[in-house]
Amino acid sequence: MKKALSLLTVSAMAVSMLAGCGSSKPAETTAAATTAAAAETTAAATEAASEAATEAAAAATDADLSDKKVGVCIYQFSDNFMTLFRNELQNYLVSLGFKAENIEIMDGANDQATQTNQIQNFITKGVDCLIINPVNSSSAATITDMVTAANIPLVYINREPDAQEEQRWADENMKVCYVGCDARQSGTMQGEIIADLENHGDINGDGKVSYIMIEGDPENVDAQYRTEFSVKALKDAGIEVEQLDDQVGNWDQAQAQSLVANSLAQHGKDIEVVFCNNDAMALGALQAIEAAGETVGTDVYLVGVDALQEACDNVKAGKQTGTVFNDHISQSHSAADAAVKYITGGDNEHYIGCDYVKVTSDNVDDVLASLG
Ligand code: GAL
Repeated sequence: MKKALSLLTVSAMAVSMLAGCGSSKPAETTAAATTAAAAETTAAATEAASEAATEAAAAATDADLSDKKVGVCIYQFSDNFMTLFRNELQNYLVSLGFKAENIEIMDGANDQATQTNQIQNFITKGVDCLIINPVNSSSAATITDMVTAANIPLVYINREPDAQEEQRWADENMKVCYVGCDARQSGTMQGEIIADLENHGDINGDGKVSYIMIEGDPENVDAQYRTEFSVKALKDAGIEVEQLDDQVGNWDQAQAQSLVANSLAQHGKDIEVVFCNNDAMALGALQAIEAAGETVGTDVYLVGVDALQEACDNVKAGKQTGTVFNDHISQSHSAADAAVKYITGGDNEHYIGCDYVKVTSDNVDDVLASLG
């Protein structure tokens, strides 16, 4: 298991605790406020957050979980970020007292029908809790009905169901919650990384930032918000923008590589910024940029989200302008803690949030150290 309370995670937690949005939906938390607060996080707050989290973990482990069964459904095992998430989730559940053989994790293979069958099988087996990363968040209402009809508590992760569905959990007092981050924050941070550059992303000095957008799965609110809020942050900073291309890369490195290669063939050096909704696609974009003989930082800027190890290495080497840490450690731990609460007869907030952290060459060493 990764260090549960790395300095970075602790400071992000401290920020969310200070901001009071660790367990409820951040109203309109601006990324700027979060960043400023993060910078000002005092050692005392960090220590307090660390103690609180240690106490929470200790409380959670009081119960005997050795015969409890957890079913986990992941939308697709080949997704880089969800691989980090599920490995951390598995290790943390074991550290809380679950037996490894009582934790079953299924690959939905990006197919809702396959995943729905897996959920049905878990219900038949009578698991004590389900943790679900839905293939289609629009299927959440159906999933919730199936699972709650069997009296099994349910923790959704990573792909947020819509507001109407979440409202139903509260109205009908269901043992159902969602653990995740607000993707508007990550999009805003991507835009800010570009706006904060000395030339504000305007490499050719023509008074506007010409960009291409490589989107994740369009059904996914993370993709929708990152696409919208990255550009909004530039506009909010008073920067004129021009979109040269907008393509769907489905969170996938190989798809992004070919999309960015096509875009570079069409627009060449007119492209000043490549926004990718995640790092896997930024890695593909970098391959295309290098194959076209261009250099990140001189010819073009490149940003992603997740803070995958490889992307952070690229930020350090100047081959990616920045990324945004999508805290799989805190999210997987919150999901497991929520499952334990339900299993031991307690309750959870219906929305359990988490903060993103901006990553540039300024702090990439700290981030890499915290990722271990
Ligand atoms: C996002 C993450 C992507 C991808 C997606 C799957 O939060 O940034 O890399 O894993 O979730 O839903």
